[in-house]
Amino acid sequence: MAKILVTGGCGYIGSHTIIDLLENGYSVISIDDNSRSTAYAVNGIEQITGKKIKNYKVDLKNFDETRAVFQENEDITGIIHFAAYKAVGESVAEPLRYYENNMFGLINLLKCVQEFDIPYFVFSSSCTVYGNPDSIPVTELSPTKKAESPYGATKQMGEEILRDFTKIDGIRSAILLRYFNPVGAHPSGLIGEVPVGRPQNLVPAITQTAIGKLPKMLVHGNDYPTRDGSCVRDYIHVSDIASAHTLALQYLINNENQSPCDVFNLGTGNGISVLEAIHTFEEVSGVKLNYEIGPRRPGDVIAIYANNDEAVNRLGWKIKYGIKDMMKTAWDWELKIKEAEEKVKSN
Ligand code: WQD
Repeated sequence: MAKILVTGGCGYIGSHTIIDLLENGYSVISIDDNSRSTAYAVNGIEQITGKKIKNYKVDLKNFDETRAVFQENEDITGIIHFAAYKAVGESVAEPLRYYENNMFGLINLLKCVQEFDIPYFVFSSSCTVYGNPDSIPVTELSPTKKAESPYGATKQMGEEILRDFTKIDGIRSAILLRYFNPVGAHPSGLIGEVPVGRPQNLVPAITQTAIGKLPKMLVHGNDYPTRDGSCVRDYIHVSDIASAHTLALQYLINNENQSPCDVFNLGTGNGISVLEAIHTFEEVSGVKLNYEIGPRRPGDVIAIYANNDEAVNRLGWKIKYGIKDMMKTAWDWELKIKEAEEKVKSN
């Protein structure tokens, strides 16, 4: 049974991916310093799969501690690398923290890949590398633009580092997965996104407003050249993102002669506006959302959604969830969080 190292395994996409890997017969270990996540996710993974996984609470910026994990686990076949900071606004305010964390972490990891001869590597990238696209839907060949934030720059640099790294000796191969907008939660309601502080992303802002944690939410602009004036995105269920990672790994293992570094878009191919997302949420939750139209948010892309033919045709990716499922599972998860918080208060 191939052993896979997942970095950021206690995080939102990492935990959902571990579930998919376990359900597909892989054994998994995680490295997560829990600076942006909680070890609680490991409990959720065990409740859902019945399998325990070990998380090494290690900061990838600490090379010796990272290397020690590889020394203890000589049988790692592949790595899926999620561990990185990912808040666009925060990255603008604190660029050095983002470049240090996201790049030093990746480089330390790749030094271990080299020393311990790990053949397969899947990298968490983002549609943010496309910037404001000239035409949509975007394919993997669409031009990447100068990143709009240090966060986006770390994703672009990460891709370049992997292209150069996999060229050197031909024994390693990597896949870069460009996520569009991951949203929703595991259908079991046992794990989901746990935003740190006030949520910047749309769906957690919607669910926290609906549950009363936030008094209201702002729609960042409705004067864009789109069908209803609000920005258009390609929202994709986190469990669909997860299954694509397992398929990417299987693709690397089964296709020795495939190109050293391949890239795939992970989006549904459907563009949904902010206002459409809000109305879908209201429909599936039965909750009228308290929102106002506010000013545009600097750095926002007007409209982007994916052409996902490559992932569908070459990885065999099948998308299971639509926008209603995304909103329903996100809302169910928010209700679970409230239930747990009330239980803690009553104890
Ligand atoms: C979506 C739309 C907002 C909140 C970023 C990263 C991307 C990925 C996902 C990591 C925009 C609008 C939002 C609110 C709003 N990150 N919005 N009111 O910016 O498309 O993508 O997060 O994987 O790499 O770039 O996602 O959810 O922040 O915003 O109107 O309270 O919702 O303006 O138009 P974004 P988002």
